[in-house]
Amino acid sequence: MNVLGISCYYHDAAAALVRDGVLVAAGEEERFNRQKHYNGFPAEAVAYCLAEAGITIDQVDYIGFYEKPLVKFNRILETIFAYWPLSYRAWLKALPLWLGHRLHIGREIQKKLGADREILYCQHHLSHAASAFLVSPFEEAAVISADGVGEWTTTAWGVGRGCDITMKKEIRFPHSIGLLFSAITAYLGFQVNDAEWKVMGLAPYGRPRYVDRFREVVDIKGDGSIRLDLRYFAHTYSTTRTFNRRWERLFGRPQRAAEADLTDFHRDIARSGQQIIEEIMVALARHVHRETGLKNVCLAGGVGLNCVANWRIRQESGFENIFIQPAAGDSGGALGTAFYLYNSVLKGPRVFQMDHACFGPSFTDKEIEAALRQAGAVYESIADEEELLARTARMIADGKVVGWFQGRMEFGQRALGARSLLADPRDAKTKDLINAKVKFREAFRPFAPAVLKERVHEYFDVPAGMDLPFMLLVPKVCEDKRAVIPAVTHEDGTGRVQTVTEEHNGRYYRLIRAFAELTGVPVVVNTSFNVRGEPIVCTPKDAYNTFVNTGIDVLVMGRYVVTEKPAVVDFEAGARRSVSLEARLRTGESVGIR
Ligand SMILES: [Fe+2]
Repeated sequence: MNVLGISCYYHDAAAALVRDGVLVAAGEEERFNRQKHYNGFPAEAVAYCLAEAGITIDQVDYIGFYEKPLVKFNRILETIFAYWPLSYRAWLKALPLWLGHRLHIGREIQKKLGADREILYCQHHLSHAASAFLVSPFEEAAVISADGVGEWTTTAWGVGRGCDITMKKEIRFPHSIGLLFSAITAYLGFQVNDAEWKVMGLAPYGRPRYVDRFREVVDIKGDGSIRLDLRYFAHTYSTTRTFNRRWERLFGRPQRAAEADLTDFHRDIARSGQQIIEEIMVALARHVHRETGLKNVCLAGGVGLNCVANWRIRQESGFENIFIQPAAGDSGGALGTAFYLYNSVLKGPRVFQMDHACFGPSFTDKEIEAALRQAGAVYESIADEEELLARTARMIADGKVVGWFQGRMEFGQRALGARSLLADPRDAKTKDLINAKVKFREAFRPFAPAVLKERVHEYFDVPAGMDLPFMLLVPKVCEDKRAVIPAVTHEDGTGRVQTVTEEHNGRYYRLIRAFAELTGVPVVVNTSFNVRGEPIVCTPKDAYNTFVNTGIDVLVMGRYVVTEKPAVVDFEAGARRSVSLEARLRTGESVGIR
């Protein structure tokens, strides 16, 4: 039985395909169409999922959408009327969108897919909850989902048992933890739904001087539920603004302009805001732990990507085990819907556990070589893996920034060793080096470590053998190791670590092991293989183009090593083939090389 899950028309559009209860493929549309955070219909992601499964759209038994559009429209209408005439502009913006296609999403999806099958709808936070619990290792767990807003719900918690999920309590719009974090992000001049990481990264550099002022905009109850003082917010009547003038007066300064200098004030706001979010999430998780008495918890929703808060939940809430699925945000809704339909509605058994994130396209050595040839690249083929890894490890140890492209692409926002840039963690200058060569990121943002799982406890303050596969938790770096791996030790002595196993990331694991044999350090710097503002690379062509256009020193793709950059590059030489999307949906033809 094939179940297709789709999420789109709000944040990151995505598709996921589940066959007989096993995830076959999942991908965000932005990786395929190269438009960051693309939120339109995920046509190419669907085409890829079908191709990976070797089926056509006619062989899909059920199609699910990750939220209930009519209920959402009801919320938007009610809010617009409640805040009229302030909401006038929001009304002008929303109406054509909803009357255009969002009210007929079912028909729209049928049309796009060329399938007349009924579309099934799952509640937004149930999709989130399912995306975590149903692929978790737990037979029984509490589930907490928190984001900006779904239909009406902004935060919900419940209990998952076997194939069933029962949501018990919720916080409803306009009171939202995610929208509070969006307001903090926007006030600091960062892009909402994109740069929330920056608030987290900046926070350790500041002091919590504005926590009391944040308490005026949000009332945090003992059970972690919140009420926003809506006099400070704009999300009830604006589609573009999250806070208003009163907020600016409260904190004493106007919004920071994008790219303007960051001052102590901004660092202190980041620290204070992050502290408030952590306080809410920890209080909520403690309450859920008390109420359920369970030892496992699954987190989902955009707030589940706040890895600093996640670690505090792990440490302070009373739960023993925590699971967060790598696509915790809205793209994971596609995955959650598909599993909810298969497990909870159709009562198919739970036979799948998500212990790695590599559910995207892969390319054979032959395809990689064809792409390199097409681009006119000068490359070397190293058939012996041991030699390939020894040479790559040596280049990393020599201070090179290596573009690492191996196997199936990751699902979710993190590069986890399939489409990664790797570098030496032992040199504090590595961060500046990667920024100067390729990332061009703000200096305060940390880079993350990937470590051999069996040695994680030697470098991080965690129990031996702890599984941290998705870089969604941020433990402390052991004090005696901070000087050993300065490039991945953040200002507050933490590291957003990924544990790597041979079972799930074979070649990546063996590379880190080769680096450890060479240097004694079983850790590499891992950051996503992309330039600032662009999606992570998907195909060999994307990777080669990024390699050529940036200061990345080496590209290791499959068994091929590229060190030379051409003086002039004809990017159109490898233009994508002109097979129509519709034809691919029908024939199940692979995405291939673009
Ligand atoms: Fe969401």
